Amino acid sequence: MHPRRLLIGGNWKMNGDLAGGVELAEAVAAAFEPIRTNVDAVIFPPFPYLQSVARALGHSGIELGAQDCSAKPNGARTGEVSASMLVDLGVQHVIIGHSERRQFHHETDRLVCEKVHVAMENGLKVMLCVGETWEERSAGRAVEVVQKQLRGALEGLQGDRLAALTVAYEPVWAIGTGKSATPKDAAEAHEAIRRDLEHLYDRSSSAAVRILYGGSVNAANAPSLFAHLEIEGALVGGASLKGADFASILGSAATAFKGRRG
Ligand code: 13P
Repeated sequence: MHPRRLLIGGNWKMNGDLAGGVELAEAVAAAFEPIRTNVDAVIFPPFPYLQSVARALGHSGIELGAQDCSAKPNGARTGEVSASMLVDLGVQHVIIGHSERRQFHHETDRLVCEKVHVAMENGLKVMLCVGETWEERSAGRAVEVVQKQLRGALEGLQGDRLAALTVAYEPVWAIGTGKSATPKDAAEAHEAIRRDLEHLYDRSSSAAVRILYGGSVNAANAPSLFAHLEIEGALVGGASLKGADFASILGSAATAFKGRRG
């Protein structure tokens, strides 16, 4: 199989302000220009900044993503944003099932699944997040937990939809802690996710899915993560808020892709 370009996502979460976000997007766009043929990138700003960030990204080739969407297509859902509204703004990707939504907003696998369907029906590409807690990992249940989240999220989804799916393996204990999973542990989890996708669908449709790692990825640890073929990119939180760090991670991904291509 030909190696695919790695995909790097910058999840800004609920950080920054408008001026800072625009400045950051401009800086990342400039850094992306010389390496854009060797790496894919998407930035997930907070909802209110989507349009301004889209303008700042211009024709850089960096794609635009939102951090969530409603499970409902429209209607009486005060405070929610629908998938079609995101499409209206030029958004191409949406994060679904992030552990912070599962934890602080009590999102269940069932709700995550509804969101995946509605997002894809509207033509959005889905960045589906899965990952176990430290307690679950310590109990030897990491693979089982991730498998349950994956199966729950993809219920009823046809194989031809997988072309619009990316899975981000984000162990909860690694998010925002500075304690990344070891490249070997991450690669093992990715391998399990890959096997599960092949089991649920088939080899060729699941080959369309890139599996990214997320959780304390930074400029220093990115190269060792990308040394593993199973790791096909990263979903980056904290380090995506610093232009130079995010640019360095993008650069490492471009270099890794060139190495994989040989
Ligand atoms: P950190 O990179 O800050 O650990 O966050 C990871 C994450 O949750 C990306 O979605």
